[in-house]
Amino acid sequence: MATAQISISPEDLSQVPHGHEKIPEAGILVIFGASGDLTRRKLLPALFHLEQAGLLPDNFAIVGVARRPLGDEFAADMRAGVIEFGGVDAGETRLDNFVSKISYFPLRFDALEDYAGLKAELDRIAKEKSIVGNRLYYLATASEYFAPIIQNLGAQGMAHPEQGKATVVIEKPFGHDLESARALNCQVNAVFHEEQVFRIDHYLGKETVQNILVFRFANGIFEPIWNRNYIDHVQITVAETLGVEGRGPFYEKAGALRDVVQNHVMELLSLVALEPPSSFEAESVRREKLKVWRAIPSIPILDVVRGQYGAGTVDGQPVVSYRDEQRVSPNSGSETYAAARVEIENWRWAGVPFYLRAGKRMRKHATEINIQFKQPPLLIFDRIAHQQACQVIQPNLLTLRIQPDEGIALRFGAKVPTTMEMDVCPVNMDFDYAAAFGKSSANGYERLLLDALLGDQTLFSHRDGVETTWALFTPVLEAWAAKTPEKFPNYEAGTWGPECADHLIARGGRAWRNDLGRKA
Ligand code: BG6
Repeated sequence: MATAQISISPEDLSQVPHGHEKIPEAGILVIFGASGDLTRRKLLPALFHLEQAGLLPDNFAIVGVARRPLGDEFAADMRAGVIEFGGVDAGETRLDNFVSKISYFPLRFDALEDYAGLKAELDRIAKEKSIVGNRLYYLATASEYFAPIIQNLGAQGMAHPEQGKATVVIEKPFGHDLESARALNCQVNAVFHEEQVFRIDHYLGKETVQNILVFRFANGIFEPIWNRNYIDHVQITVAETLGVEGRGPFYEKAGALRDVVQNHVMELLSLVALEPPSSFEAESVRREKLKVWRAIPSIPILDVVRGQYGAGTVDGQPVVSYRDEQRVSPNSGSETYAAARVEIENWRWAGVPFYLRAGKRMRKHATEINIQFKQPPLLIFDRIAHQQACQVIQPNLLTLRIQPDEGIALRFGAKVPTTMEMDVCPVNMDFDYAAAFGKSSANGYERLLLDALLGDQTLFSHRDGVETTWALFTPVLEAWAAKTPEKFPNYEAGTWGPECADHLIARGGRAWRNDLGRKA
């Protein structure tokens, strides 16, 4: 397929506004579960990127909290994490100053008596660094500790400081079904007001995800055709080549539907489908997202399929089956792949199916949204070019490449210039983020951490939203739990998932788009 490049000149680029320049007030960030991977791989590199951009206040402290008795080696380990995962040079001048802001406090999450010590330590740091009040508690622990930590913070009077404000950021998974999410919401809101609560979905920190709203509402030409009159169907794919990466015990309980579909995929769906919000304020955006999720009727069990990978080859390397991964049951029934067909019952989308899928150990790593338009009403050019790639006249396709190869492509038919006949061949107009704006080292957490420090909830989930998406998938999870899958493993690692997923989409006369990623 031919590709037409769109480029942005340096003059255009100088017109592009550079993020928000607001700097949060002085404060202490307390990371619970700080000895885990997330802190080292994502949070600390993101914080250092903010420091490099001059977006952290001078009076700022980061306190890692976990059970292990660590000392100064914690800060040294975080330094190494920033270098390894943040693409930062070991000699970077600001690194020493940044690391000097990091300390560690050992604590048992469920032991109330340990929290008095933490409070005293935070007060001591606050005094030493002249930081009044503000505290941000980041819960990056295993999810069973969320409620005890919140209760203990409340019981120790740490949720509502006399001066400044306290906020709490809660990582996913937020519950494991509707009932547990509701219970957790009640426990959280018994201690913190909803304005203090930031439920994180790191997909919303991705530039390309935020750009969905910009694409739709900062341009006038797409909205008029963004509906059932022009769109045939939408596909949302989160395909990973990775397996479970040592997270066997977590994944055994979670599975792909809970881990990725209920949250990341549903967030993507809401941004594609929502009505124009009246502003980019937290309340307006969240209200419109909620309306989308609430317009999805209950999902018939036949419209959801699951899969589990067997041994295979990924990126040229042999890999073991899910059941042979570390700390995974040899008879595991957990799904590493899930696909669903959902409908949105409103005037804009009635009759347009949204096909969703997420899987581990797939052929290619790609998160992509494909919006397929309807065929023109009359095909007056019935000749198609003879190359293999152009066997049928293809409808317009808009592809939002969330990651990697971040970009947007629009496929349309063009006349093949070398023939005398009106031969039509699909070509692509392609916008490539890296070519236009340069490669970004941001991992998504920069934006979310900054917003949480500034108190902006726009990119975080509200309790109603979390409960609504759980309500949609809980019946499916219950039905799955009641019936052990007979044919697991049902797809080979390094393929596009199980056959049942192909049948799911074929029932509607469609097929998954497996040519994901940027076209040459
Ligand atoms: C996490 C899931 O939320 O998202 C992981 O727990 C998954 O299993 C990850 O790999 C995918 O995120 P990203 O940013 O790499 O697409």
